[in-house]
Amino acid sequence: MADVFISGSGVFTPPHVITNDELVASFNAYVELFNAENAEGIAAGEIEAKAPSSSDFIVAASGIEQRYVMDKEGTLDPARMCPRYAPRADDEPSLMAEMGCAAAKDALAQAGVDSSDVDLVIVAASNMERAYPAMAVEIQQLLDAGGFAFDMNVACSSATFGIQAAADMIRGGSATRALVISPEVTSGHLEWRDRDCHFIFGDVATAVLLEAGDIAQNPQFKVLSTACATQFSNNIRNNFGFLRRAHDQMDDRRDMQFMQNGRKVFKEVLPLVSKHIKSHLDRDGVVAEDLSRLWLHQANKSMNDYIGKKVLGREPEAGEQPNILQDYANTSSAGSIIAFAKHSDDLAAGDKGLICSFGAGYSVGSVIVERV
Ligand code: COA
Repeated sequence: MADVFISGSGVFTPPHVITNDELVASFNAYVELFNAENAEGIAAGEIEAKAPSSSDFIVAASGIEQRYVMDKEGTLDPARMCPRYAPRADDEPSLMAEMGCAAAKDALAQAGVDSSDVDLVIVAASNMERAYPAMAVEIQQLLDAGGFAFDMNVACSSATFGIQAAADMIRGGSATRALVISPEVTSGHLEWRDRDCHFIFGDVATAVLLEAGDIAQNPQFKVLSTACATQFSNNIRNNFGFLRRAHDQMDDRRDMQFMQNGRKVFKEVLPLVSKHIKSHLDRDGVVAEDLSRLWLHQANKSMNDYIGKKVLGREPEAGEQPNILQDYANTSSAGSIIAFAKHSDDLAAGDKGLICSFGAGYSVGSVIVERV
């Protein structure tokens, strides 16, 4: 079976930054508007007054300091509280495809590979812009890639599950060069009017190029092994779906955006992830001391601190477990790949590291790599 290598990675960073202070100022203006508009109902006890948000809470609860978005104006408009993207005609590139192509081009340039030599494109992300045709097939055409392409969604774990799928296909011989692309327009599914979660997400796109060993000209990391696991939970859920018309539910409903029971997620996902990583390492005879770096999913700083300590059996040293969530916030499936793309160049040949993502499903995916 062919060895599989990662020979390039890319990150497309959106043009606009929203700092916590900007986010909170707009949210609090929205709260004032809401409470003033509903003053009578609130006084009569029929409507619950909304409480303001705070930058200090956001940093303390999550470690997030800012996020990138594709549209800032609509998102911060207290009368709108949601991004505004002009609809695109069917013959124009869609938003996710455009973002995904930008990240893919970076990954291809790093590897020195022409897009026409790619024979598998997987778009692995939490949300797809439309039901079909697949985003991946559109990207395949925009890049002039060959072979075949498909979309997959395992929420925040999509990228690692995508890497496993691509690596297995390369090993099995059905593909030779694969792009795993994760465009995340999280701003579209976030409820910006809910203070419990309005600070959580940011937009981005990432891409990883995987190649069979016999054709890789510029391999960066060998994929030693992958492991994926799932366990059903309703604690992170979004009920938006194509049956809404059949359900006589055309109006927006709160549960048609991102919903989570954050406390339960925190408590249940941490042991799941720690055990998963440990059993992946045990299965492959890798000990924690062999790992020079952990590139973890970027949802919450305390979660990463906890997982790093559990996996390594000690406090991770500076740089051993790089966080990017302070700058990008939670970018769903893309988070661990941003950390990998931005903090892997300095590893020496033979150094091993582990990419791990986790989230809705629940789902957890891990990839052990070795610097070439
Ligand atoms: N500003 C100020 N106060 C806020 C607030 C905000 N934006 N949002 C919530 N609060 C308040 C709450 O109302 C609560 O008040 P109370 O104690 O009077 O009830 C208090 O702050 C604590 O809220 P809580 O939701 O319990 O905070 P937390 O410490 O659990 O942090 C999360 C919230 C979401 C950051 C945290 O639970 C988390 O990271 N969970 C896992 C998230 C995750 O990984 N999700 C995966 C998504 S892919």
